[in-house]
Amino acid sequence: MTSDVVVAGGGLIGMSVAWRCAQKGLRVTVVDPDPTQGAGQAAAGMLAPVAEASYGEERLLGLARASLKRYPAFVAELRDATGLDVGLRTAGTLQVGFDADDIRALDELHAFHLELGLPAERLTPGEARRREPSLTTRLRGAVSIPSDHSVDARALRDALAHAARRAGATLVTTGIEALVTAGGRATGVRLADGTTLTAGTVVLALGAWSASLPGVPDLPVRPVKGQILRLRLAAGLLDGTVRALVRGRQVYLVPLRDDQLIIGATAEEKGFDRSVTAGGVYELLRDAIEVVPGVTELELVETLVRFRPGTPDNAPLLGECDLKGLVLATGHYRNGVLLAPVTGEAIADLVADGTLPEAARGFGLDRFRERS
Ligand code: GLY
Repeated sequence: MTSDVVVAGGGLIGMSVAWRCAQKGLRVTVVDPDPTQGAGQAAAGMLAPVAEASYGEERLLGLARASLKRYPAFVAELRDATGLDVGLRTAGTLQVGFDADDIRALDELHAFHLELGLPAERLTPGEARRREPSLTTRLRGAVSIPSDHSVDARALRDALAHAARRAGATLVTTGIEALVTAGGRATGVRLADGTTLTAGTVVLALGAWSASLPGVPDLPVRPVKGQILRLRLAAGLLDGTVRALVRGRQVYLVPLRDDQLIIGATAEEKGFDRSVTAGGVYELLRDAIEVVPGVTELELVETLVRFRPGTPDNAPLLGECDLKGLVLATGHYRNGVLLAPVTGEAIADLVADGTLPEAARGFGLDRFRERS
């Protein structure tokens, strides 16, 4: 089978790219034997460029904010295309801290917010508890970030798949064995059943597995293990996202729809180790219960491990590389959900028109070469 574009990987990023490419009239084939294996299956769905902002990652912050800005229209367009609601929640985020070191870290982050003109407000513990009454009385301070929202990541992936199909994309659920090259360029992918899908462009959107596909050039993408918990949310327990530093340890609590609470997440350099560990679950629950004691009463419905695609600077790999015909849309690390709209749009523009839009420039592989 021949297409204009083969997208290797049908997670949030792959499906965003496929949808936008198909909307441009390109013949698109997406290959993924099981998209539930991707990081999107575990993602809490935080759209949190401000809360996740870090010194030295200003370029990533710009991309993340550009993507967040697109979210309301992205979600509305998906609803129009599919009739599916993806649970965009706009109640904002509170960051809270417990001891003097946590408060120092919160104050430093807040100073960074102010320096960059980001929307954030320092709150007293009482003010934080008036917004989220289930928070413990033991917290020492908080920062409110009204613009950091959340979305139901699984529903988003399903809606994107639906929209991509409706726009004309073909979905193939056979495993991918290798990237196929000929004459120094990528020309398609070979599948586990021995067939080859050929295409003018191959988009690599395999998340944490991007560097392991035979035939792909060396890529600095590694798996970063995340353990995450899903609980049944009691009515009214939390309105928005709460992120906490609990004596130096990070935990987040994200209400989803009106009936689920996500608690996450570990960040472990353990390769593709799939084990849910007693220690991982214990630490997440212990810290979450310190932040919101009412979590003790909730039913634990799911524990899960998935792998973030990490890169050396925590930013994604977007655009062409040395191998002609291969376009990178990977390495989104902690921000795959947030960056899906801007990635889909930018990669589709690149494939259709040959130019990567300004918003997505500067995320190529060459940035690592510049440094060495
Ligand atoms: N974006 C949250 C996480 O990766 O845990």
